[in-house]
Amino acid sequence: MIQVSNLSFSYTKKPFIQDMNFEVHEGEIFGFLGPSGAGKSTLQKILLGMLPGYTGSAIACGTECNRHDQDFYQSIGVDFEYSTMYEKLTARENLEFFSSLYRQRVRSIDELLSLVGLENDGDKKVTAYSKGMKSRLNFIKALVHDPKLLFLDEPTSGLDPTNSRMMKDVILEEKKKGKTILLTTHNMQDATELCDRVAFIVGGKIFALDSPHNLIMSRGAAKITYSWLDNDIEKTGSCQLDRASEDVTLKGLINENRLLSIHSSEPTLNDIFIDITGKTLV
Ligand SMILES: Nc1ncnc2c1ncn2[C@@H]1O[C@H](COP(=O)(O)OP(=O)(O)O)[C@@H](O)[C@H]1O
Ligand SMILES: [Mg+2]
Repeated sequence: MIQVSNLSFSYTKKPFIQDMNFEVHEGEIFGFLGPSGAGKSTLQKILLGMLPGYTGSAIACGTECNRHDQDFYQSIGVDFEYSTMYEKLTARENLEFFSSLYRQRVRSIDELLSLVGLENDGDKKVTAYSKGMKSRLNFIKALVHDPKLLFLDEPTSGLDPTNSRMMKDVILEEKKKGKTILLTTHNMQDATELCDRVAFIVGGKIFALDSPHNLIMSRGAAKITYSWLDNDIEKTGSCQLDRASEDVTLKGLINENRLLSIHSSEPTLNDIFIDITGKTLV
């Protein structure tokens, strides 16, 4: 669906996006994961054809991104990072307007509003919407014409846990229908939960690209932490889960039934991100 090779781009004289290479396959959710300022939105804008002055190649739906025509925009949906609604119109009026820009309107506005819990707010002006309501509205705007390729820029940013869950469920529903979804996030939970593959991005460069599972496993096995009492003083020990049989202390404690507590902890995508890029996700 998308092929990027040797892609570079700069806003100023300084290179920013540097020599990126990746592909997004049809039907997958592909994530750009990185901290603020990493270049995630820039990359999406290049793929949308909004920043045509790049070098290398970025092909989406078979066409070089700086040569897209109207057909491309009929087939993609975009949820920008910031609200793109007409504030003085109601949510319904906005959705009707944006639907009218497409050749065919395939989704019902009432259905879309209720997908994200806005069924009772459709006739309110957007100016009266909270930040979270605006981001849910912005998101369903991207779905009005049932596009096959979706670009979502930080879709759950600023949402409470309930609304974030609702949004993620809708995203997963779209994937089930066979849509290809490219999302940017700095939230490792979202990336782990939603993405088939993620690219770690920092300073305009890709540091790693794989499934969240493979990235987490690349760090090696989970760790075991255990504790026991020694002359009434609590002591703790730890070892790698896959080398537990080599831990003499642990073996002794198991044989003597002296374990006070034991638990395993898997690394998170955040731990891996820090390991690989040297940066945190915030
Ligand atoms: N139009 C622009 N002109 C110059 N610099 C820009 C422009 N847009 C973004 N930048 C810079 O590019 C960097 C990355 O921005 P962005 O792609 O939005 O990162 P992210 O989405 O990962 O937070 C930032 O340092 C930002 O200041
Ligand atoms: Mg951004």
